Amino acid sequence: MNAGNHYRVVVGMATCGLSAGANYVYQSMKKEVESLGLTNVDIEVTGCIGSCTYEPIVEVFCPGEEKISYIFMTPEKGVQVVKSHFAGHKPIYEYTLQGYQMAKAFEEELSLDKTNIALSSLDESEMEMDDIPASEPLIRDLKVDLDITHLPFYAKQKRVVMHNCGLINPEDINEYIAMDGYFALAKSLLELKRLEVIDIIMASGLRGRGGAGFPTGVKWKFAYQEPGDEKYFICNADEGDPGAFMDRSLLEGDPHSVIEAMIIAGYAIGAHQGYIYVRAEYPVAVKRLNIALDQAKNMGLLGKNILGSGFDFNIDIRLGAGAFVCGEETALIASVEGKRGMPRNKPPFPAHSGLFNKPTIINNVETLGNVAQIILKGASWFTAMGTQKSPGTKVFALGGKITNTGLVEVPMGITLREIIYDIGGGCPNGKELKAIQTGGPSGGCITTKYLDLPIDFDNLTSIGSMMGSGGMIVMDEDNCMVDIARFYLDFTVSESCGKCTPCREGTKRLLEIVTRISEGKGKLSDINLLEDLGQHLKDTALCALGQTAPNPVLSTLENFKDEYLAHIVDKRCPAHVCKKLLGYEITDDCRGCTKCVRYCPVHAITGKPLAKHHIDPDLCIRCGACFEGCAFHAIVVK
Ligand SMILES: Cc1cc2nc3c(=O)[nH]c(=O)nc-3n(C[C@H](O)[C@H](O)[C@H](O)COP(=O)(O)O)c2cc1C
Ligand code: FES
Repeated sequence: MNAGNHYRVVVGMATCGLSAGANYVYQSMKKEVESLGLTNVDIEVTGCIGSCTYEPIVEVFCPGEEKISYIFMTPEKGVQVVKSHFAGHKPIYEYTLQGYQMAKAFEEELSLDKTNIALSSLDESEMEMDDIPASEPLIRDLKVDLDITHLPFYAKQKRVVMHNCGLINPEDINEYIAMDGYFALAKSLLELKRLEVIDIIMASGLRGRGGAGFPTGVKWKFAYQEPGDEKYFICNADEGDPGAFMDRSLLEGDPHSVIEAMIIAGYAIGAHQGYIYVRAEYPVAVKRLNIALDQAKNMGLLGKNILGSGFDFNIDIRLGAGAFVCGEETALIASVEGKRGMPRNKPPFPAHSGLFNKPTIINNVETLGNVAQIILKGASWFTAMGTQKSPGTKVFALGGKITNTGLVEVPMGITLREIIYDIGGGCPNGKELKAIQTGGPSGGCITTKYLDLPIDFDNLTSIGSMMGSGGMIVMDEDNCMVDIARFYLDFTVSESCGKCTPCREGTKRLLEIVTRISEGKGKLSDINLLEDLGQHLKDTALCALGQTAPNPVLSTLENFKDEYLAHIVDKRCPAHVCKKLLGYEITDDCRGCTKCVRYCPVHAITGKPLAKHHIDPDLCIRCGACFEGCAFHAIVVK
């Protein structure tokens, strides 16, 4: 390291980082830099860096050097990094992602006791470098490949939409402009005719990332062709799918990219007013959007006569109250109009008659995240990525039973196997992968037989699931598929707006049937009932909430019928999840230590000290406290 280097330090402060304590890391590092009087360090806020498992994350950029990612940061580690790395030009490799991974590999390969080697200092924030005995093997002495793009988690990703997230300060418009921000707007307003903008988006084949995958350019053209000058453009930032957080991350990490795209779209379709409909539960996104809107206005990029082009466009924020159905476009429009968010029949489609009965285009946040890039780099740049019918990339929120949770942006056409194993690192603790849920409550559960299927809009639909907005929940052998179906139905029942009878009543009946199966009270005829009712709901519900609500139950029925049969016929939950079907028993390994008696909250366990104990199944509430607490593994689940 050369003395005199200038360091740009970014602290991941999207909601994921903030909830892991990134703000405290940021404050402590800033304070230490100030107290040491370091003038060669800029510490900036940034959005989601992607690998949420490792939050809080601090990344260090220095001209001519590899990027260094410090993970699992604490305020104390932050102070040490400032002293050692920025003041002393000695990075602390033990705190880096690579150091952590090497330490884990060492532990696994050599089966070394973590407490006996210096590598254990990874988690010990209070341990100083000098505390480590000189004789111990040290990560800092090893040749470490610090280019994190070589790591499997990043190597298979392609960042288009998220290219600025984790890099720029989302609260500073100059950083966005330094990354070519607002150049696509300038090109559109000053060099392209409205139809030319639409033609580029059409040629790119961009499909809406909000769920249905409708071609964006085609939709824009519908609104363009509508006569009149009173049209609206709405950004759908409602993001109600459980497990999905890519829209929030883009708004928190790069709000200007969405604003720029909205102005371009407004120009293309002939609208002068835009709205961002964002749920109030996203306060960080709302705050950064407000900052970004003010900055854009102050620079003449929003408002009257943008860049001297004669085009006027204004954007207002509308806060949603967090109702899933308000993400549906006609319900969203009603909500923006100040009415109760309920869907209506289509046609007319919003492109013809939407907000205040005027032509309106609604696009998802991630869809918009592609727009400026396409205008700048061209349609063929975009179509070179992904598949023929689904070009570009898709951001997935990878969660559930997966080693590396977080946001991953991958080219369309990548296989599930690559996402789950190469990027996600497989299921933790050596557990076996059972299923992958995509598309949230509207999607379904995919079995492992489809691991090598290239993922795009059409392929996911063809196997009974869907892309949805991009939630991807991984399930292992410990997940019960009947319980999963019950979970999603529980969600749709509480989110159904109640306007149409099939959805209001049908989802409730589906939930009742699945619940009774999970409690061991199901009948074989329930399977046909679920299939018939599910199909009926698909055919008759007013909006896609009801039409897709049966998907989780139908797909689990199709792919995991044996689990339903085990619940119905054998009165058994093979994954040991459904509480009413669980039975705990104490085996002969019991030493009579009485610990389980103390753990049991309902006094269902009896026995004399040093003699085998017994559980009363009628009193037992199946909470599992005794099972978890038994030191002799003498309690089994039946
Ligand atoms: C119940 C329901 C919820 C939806 N939630 C969202 C959402 O949270 N965000 C979103 O962009 N689209 C959501 N959609 C899809 C929208 O209705 C609409 O298709 C989308 O915003 C269009 O944008 P796109 O073409 O860019 O995908 C939802 C649809 C339904 C039926
Ligand atoms: S969402 Fe309104 S009745 Fe289904």
